[in-house]
Amino acid sequence: MRAGTHLRAATWRDIPAMADLERAAFPEDPWDEASLWSELARRPRRSYLVAHDPRTSDLVGYAGLDLGGDVADVMTLAVDPRARGRGVGTLLLDELHHRARAAGAASVMLEVRSGNDVARRLYASRGYALVRTRRRYYRSGEDALALRKELSADG
Ligand SMILES: CC(C)(COP(=O)(O)OP(=O)(O)OC[C@H]1O[C@@H](n2cnc3c(N)ncnc32)[C@H](O)[C@@H]1OP(=O)(O)O)[C@@H](O)C(=O)NCCC(=O)NCCS
Repeated sequence: MRAGTHLRAATWRDIPAMADLERAAFPEDPWDEASLWSELARRPRRSYLVAHDPRTSDLVGYAGLDLGGDVADVMTLAVDPRARGRGVGTLLLDELHHRARAAGAASVMLEVRSGNDVARRLYASRGYALVRTRRRYYRSGEDALALRKELSADG
């Protein structure tokens, strides 16, 4: 684990800070607090975790997973712009994989914008492969890429 960053399960009290992260990470279409409330209300099928600085308790990232059976879906993954490039996104993603595996999933899927090079590099480094392209899926005209990672015992 990256020194200085801890992970824990998200709680209702995290929602305002999660909404702040959403606005910073997804300025075009952020989830509002009501959406985050409804996501947390779907636990335990949904599993949300936050990354925080243990000295200040400040949230530096968060991620969510849908545990629907054989295939788990990454609902979201976001890191505070000031904390990027230091392994927090990788830490969160690895923990999602751990949780998916523990819940019995055989693979994990997610969708990413075709122009999101940083996220695509992160997913490629963790073994995700392209399974489908949805042409001009986003309002911006960008394609959506569906990626899948097979979960093996070793990660
Ligand atoms: C995608 C995101 C979660 C990555 O978080 P992060 O904490 O910066 O990621 P990490 O530091 O763990 O880096 C993971 C990999 O991403 C890539 N990466 C990270 N920062 C990068 C940068 N500034 N430039 C290029 N590649 C970068 C690298 O490949 C890196 O692996 P490496 O360090 O081994 O080379 C973060 O950029 C983010 O919140 N983006 C906005 C929201 C978003 O796009 N979420 C994903 C939606 S599908």
